Amino acid sequence: MLDPMPSPTDAQADLIAYLDFHVEAGADAALDEQPHDRFGEADSPAPTLRVARRPAVQADATANTLVPPPGSPPAGSPPAAPSRTFGRAASAQPDEAASDARARARQAKTLDELEQILAEFDACPLRFTARNLVFADGNPQARVMFLGEAPGADEDRIGKPFMGRSGQLLDKMMKAVGLDRTSAYIGNIVPWRPPGNRNPTPQEVAVCRPFVERQIELVDPDIIVCLGAPATQTLTGTKDGILRTRGRLFPYKLPNREVKLLATLHPAFLLRQPVQKRLAWRDFRALRSLLDGKA
Ligand code: URA
Repeated sequence: MLDPMPSPTDAQADLIAYLDFHVEAGADAALDEQPHDRFGEADSPAPTLRVARRPAVQADATANTLVPPPGSPPAGSPPAAPSRTFGRAASAQPDEAASDARARARQAKTLDELEQILAEFDACPLRFTARNLVFADGNPQARVMFLGEAPGADEDRIGKPFMGRSGQLLDKMMKAVGLDRTSAYIGNIVPWRPPGNRNPTPQEVAVCRPFVERQIELVDPDIIVCLGAPATQTLTGTKDGILRTRGRLFPYKLPNREVKLLATLHPAFLLRQPVQKRLAWRDFRALRSLLDGKA
């Protein structure tokens, strides 16, 4: 018989917690193929990744579209030259990258084409730290489309959205109202994992947004369910927090019709605050009524 694993000493447990903390903070995310001596670079020119000093985009809440801020370069400006490791993400201005993303997303006539275009898109820095593109799961013919914020470690490893603990809870919530991954379609606002599960920046969201908007157009769902504030705010333009917006229906314009967007709580939030599940339950019952044509 094998000896049982000895329990770690206090010092070992502290060391493990310290390492876990750094992995959570993104220390496992390689940013380049070569190590860099950042101290030795003190006198060298600043890195070329430029950060917008003003908001990259303004949401126009009435039209589901981004309005470039005044002074943005015109759409169709020539793309910056790719760098060796980071593609255009290293040099493209966020505004340029977003208008390039819009032009490319519009070219997709099917979800497969959109996934392929995204897989080749190199103006979002997140793709260089993520393992996989996390495009979608579920049934593209479904009447309901769930949208989260961004993949986590499990999703990044597997390449599909909502695969970890949040995904297991989402599956249970869907099941409670007669849905599953054969009757729902699932995606995210940002399709690459941000390093260390940090929140995507407004620039990253702005660059990815044209793709998720095109994904919604191609799925053409009757109801979009936004899981959490980032998805809700990105698609509606509201600045309100999720505890204000949850349970609310927003109009969402598709090219040929207007559909409903329901805001609700993110499963990750519910895992941290299980007492709020009763609110999500109300929202999911409202979703069921909408699908049944009773609301
Ligand atoms: N959280 C999200 O918002 N999306 C996922 O795919 C997983 C966790």
